[in-house]
Amino acid sequence: MGERHVRRQVPRWSELRPLVRVEVPAWRRRARVRRAASIADLRSLARRHTPRAAFDYVDGAAEGELSHARSRAAFARVEFRPRVLRDVSDVDTGTTLLGRPAALPLVLAPTGFTRMMHHEGEHAVAAAAAATGVPYTLSTMGTVAPEELAGSGERWFQLYLWRDRAATKDLVARAAAAGFRALMLTVDTPVSGSRLRDVRDGLTIPPNLTLRTLVDMGRHPSWWWHLLSTPPLRFASLDSTDGALADLVDRVFDPSITLADLAWLRDVWTGPLIVKGVLDAADARTVVDAGADAVVVSNHGGRQLDRVATPLEVLPAVVEAVGGRAEVYLDGGVLDGADVVAAVGLGARACLVGRAYLYGLMAGGQDGVTRALDILRADVRRTLALLGARTIDQLGPDRVRLRP
Ligand SMILES: Cc1cc2nc3c(=O)[nH]c(=O)nc-3n(C[C@H](O)[C@H](O)[C@H](O)COP(=O)(O)O)c2cc1C
Repeated sequence: MGERHVRRQVPRWSELRPLVRVEVPAWRRRARVRRAASIADLRSLARRHTPRAAFDYVDGAAEGELSHARSRAAFARVEFRPRVLRDVSDVDTGTTLLGRPAALPLVLAPTGFTRMMHHEGEHAVAAAAAATGVPYTLSTMGTVAPEELAGSGERWFQLYLWRDRAATKDLVARAAAAGFRALMLTVDTPVSGSRLRDVRDGLTIPPNLTLRTLVDMGRHPSWWWHLLSTPPLRFASLDSTDGALADLVDRVFDPSITLADLAWLRDVWTGPLIVKGVLDAADARTVVDAGADAVVVSNHGGRQLDRVATPLEVLPAVVEAVGGRAEVYLDGGVLDGADVVAAVGLGARACLVGRAYLYGLMAGGQDGVTRALDILRADVRRTLALLGARTIDQLGPDRVRLRP
């Protein structure tokens, strides 16, 4: 019997003490945000601190939410092939995006209505991105105007081509004057997707809050207080356009847009041009022929067409079709740094993230976005080291593949 050979002693605190780190329980929200170990932890905090309608607006997707679930499932198919005995004591996660250095192969995606998630809104997200050294993309549907975000950090502007081309041209000029360096045209929204959670929650554009939504908001007094004590939520970029809010969707989403409009925009905008929402290799080739400097392989976070192709699965074909003539980015379901590394290994120059930073924002404003970015950065660094790669350039199909 092994027990006979065991010597026992009275437990001594002096021996135990070096092994124990007494941590005060994280009662306070800030402490909880700082201790979040993953984006999933931030999502749990976000759910607790944000009214259901706002949380669902971020968390939800279109129709049966299959596109979004499949984006996540594709990342579960990733298989890494590490190489050993490579000195990885000094891992460099940096890259260049459209000719400028970035600390990570990561871009914060454009998301509309950001001040609804947390009153610090786009300011918090842009500041956290600048501090981390990655680009931030302001949405046409943003709740602060481009001029309000003028400042440090690499900023890109996302455009929905409006029916009113003169107003579109004005908006693009405003973005350029405010220091936004690249323009990202979103092309997967000829019409709006059907987000059933928003319909059930009574969240529509224009906002149409049901009694149930209001009661739910009452359970989050701090969120409610901040909403009421800060300027009203508005689509800040749309101020210069006339017309009632009811016409908004009609004006923002133009179902008649074609390649000729892309050519028009290429003339209007002289800086780097990105086309977001491509899922087909031939389309990717066409938009690059029309002058795009980058394409985003994206299903809009599963928020547009449900059961659409999965970005990670079509990525290699798009990369091949583009053939190095433009940068290729990927988004949809990226929730940790290993996802980013996997996408880069399969040919993406960088990933965009939407929900990952919005969960952080809802969990704790700028601190929460910073925490989300810290988590992603640590993941990328660790995954590179474990793969035996010192730099982003060393990632390729030999290190990453998709299991059948
Ligand atoms: C709440 C929310 C709002 C969004 N608003 C926009 C938008 O205004 N313009 C746009 O091009 N994409 C928008 N997107 C899509 C994102 O830019 C991005 O494609 C998507 O979030 C990537 O998937 P992920 O959230 O799983 O990272 C939005 C996404 C979310 C979650």
